[in-house]
Amino acid sequence: MTQADNMKGSKTIAVHWREEEKLYPPTRFIGQAYMTDPAVLERFSEKHFPECYNDYAELLDWFQYWHTTLDDSNPPFFKWFVGGKLNACYNCVDRHLEKQRNKTAFYFVPEPEGEPIEAWTYQMLYRRVNEVAAMLRDFCGLKRGDCVTLHLPMTMELPITMLACARLGVIHSEVFGGFSGKACADRIVDSASRVLITMDAYNRGGKLNDHKQKADIAIKAAAERGAKVDKVLVWRRYPGKYGSATPMVEGRDFFADEVLKDYRRQQVEPEVMDANDTLFIMYSSGTTGKPKGAQHCTGGYMAYVAGTSKYIQDIHPEDVYWCMADIGWITGHSYIVYGPLALGASSVLYEGAPNVPDAERPWRIAEALGVNIFHTSPTAIRGLRRAGSEGPAKYDYHFKHMTTVGEPIEPEVWRWYWEVVGKREAVIVDTWWQTENGGFLCTTVPGIHPMKPGSAGPGAPGIYPVIYDESGKEIPPGSGIAGNICIRNPWPGRMLTIWGDDERFVNVYYSRYIDPKSKGWRGWPYFAADGAVQAADGYYRILGRLDDVINVAGHRLGTKELESACLTVAEVAEAAVVPVPDEVKGVLPEVYVALHPGIEADERIAQKVEAAIIQDIGPIARPRRIWIVPDMPKTRSGKIMRRVLSALSASKDPGDVATLANPEIVETIRSLVQD
Ligand code: PRX
Repeated sequence: MTQADNMKGSKTIAVHWREEEKLYPPTRFIGQAYMTDPAVLERFSEKHFPECYNDYAELLDWFQYWHTTLDDSNPPFFKWFVGGKLNACYNCVDRHLEKQRNKTAFYFVPEPEGEPIEAWTYQMLYRRVNEVAAMLRDFCGLKRGDCVTLHLPMTMELPITMLACARLGVIHSEVFGGFSGKACADRIVDSASRVLITMDAYNRGGKLNDHKQKADIAIKAAAERGAKVDKVLVWRRYPGKYGSATPMVEGRDFFADEVLKDYRRQQVEPEVMDANDTLFIMYSSGTTGKPKGAQHCTGGYMAYVAGTSKYIQDIHPEDVYWCMADIGWITGHSYIVYGPLALGASSVLYEGAPNVPDAERPWRIAEALGVNIFHTSPTAIRGLRRAGSEGPAKYDYHFKHMTTVGEPIEPEVWRWYWEVVGKREAVIVDTWWQTENGGFLCTTVPGIHPMKPGSAGPGAPGIYPVIYDESGKEIPPGSGIAGNICIRNPWPGRMLTIWGDDERFVNVYYSRYIDPKSKGWRGWPYFAADGAVQAADGYYRILGRLDDVINVAGHRLGTKELESACLTVAEVAEAAVVPVPDEVKGVLPEVYVALHPGIEADERIAQKVEAAIIQDIGPIARPRRIWIVPDMPKTRSGKIMRRVLSALSASKDPGDVATLANPEIVETIRSLVQD
């Protein structure tokens, strides 16, 4: 039985979550927050849609104002701020020079702790971005509307190259640095890039990793599929010192730091872009099928990330903001680069892994730089929690605000984040959204709404979510029934389309619940493919991707709530639940857990896990097996690869695991499970 069959069988997803107590934001936070008056929410109500989003667009500098806020004449190809003209680089860099040229735009923190932290002021950024833009234009021949693939790790060259592209109106497509050459090739082919910008090497995991070798693999694989890259710019992590074992290819590969010398002090006028011109492509992190290039626009996207950075991240001019994601993901594009810089903030860019040289590294960085806004994922939080609770208290840092993003957070883990990392001083926002969305969809407004562990909260200002059942009937709040979460209305941060595939765009995100009789945007709900439940208070709890749902004897269980039950067992640090075919029940859950360091695997722990599942969810969810494993197979962005575990449980081939962060663990688990 496939996952799809598994989902068809029943009408509702069973929900067994316990309601969690709400916590109020610390008063000190509210005292300084940008949005504290609940009347503001009224301004973003449907009555004022779409004009409410003019407030976000007003945060930017426009060369020419828009004449139409939303053009919905050709759904679902919505256009925002039509007629408006602007440049993203100008908004992130140039316009801050007058008042704050000497303010730090980025703190670059190298992974080796002995290397100094670099503070890049807006002035320094302005100079370098202009020079790089001149190099891209004159040396690479790139011009407005071209697409260029970047495969850059977390160093200053990444945002600088992105901003230089934006200055020229060149569309950038950054491929996460941890991805393989083959994954990079897929994206070069799809985006038809002629130029690849990469780096020789970068520090991660305590060593200097050869990165340029992936460029050679990528270019060869792309060429085999008819996509010719004729120029490769190679930044050197340590200028002048080549850190890769791969030879440079004469006439094709060039050291960017060397070529750049010819462009010193050059200035490039920012291109006047249309609000609906493409700013970048970001391939979605789909684990199956051809990657989907989410094509994001200039005006709507910039307005949305600036607005949410201001009102949800609550970034003030004096704050030091650290989003510990990778710029190679949408979180980094929106909330390390474009959003914070549009506000003229100081953003931290950390090169490496959070546990190098030890798990207290993030707290030392926070202390050294005075970071007061911290943004990370449940995976990172679980990893830090696994290392122990003593760390944060030792360091003199104080967060006013913390974000969690990327997957549902178990209430246990949320409470640890609140108490230990945030020292009960920081408000927490749990922001639910996707690559395709540009920015947050569900979240509390931190100065207004109380927090509820494990729940993302209501729709973000101006976002009207709805939960539909399989037949398209609305599931009312408080019914305890889960369904498919959709967004009823368009919003400025949403992608324009899937790069080169309008039909797929309509099919994947809209075909599910279209009302053919409707006019304009009504009747075109955006289908997010996540399961969710809405409590009586209007808060949404995301249960995870619909294809993570397990159907046991016609009873749909969200894998996330089983995992959450596992995490109530003190010894358990991480849990993953996967479906395995069963002759009687169709599918049964099988559980994988990894323990906190220093704890020995032991049958009694497995029994405790089973008891916790039965207690929290019921005997229907009794797992077929519980495996205690040394670690979970993870993507480079830290998501647990349930697909791999599920294949192992079903005695199937786990497929290509080369892009995992820890491919070696697959064999360890296989021998445990299958031998
Ligand atoms: O299932 C949801 C989960 O991550 C998916 C989107 O992944 P991606 O496009 O890689 O973007 C991640 C960063 C925005 C969603 O469909 N997800 C994301 N944030 C949350 C979440 N699940 C629960 N709670 C969240 N806060």
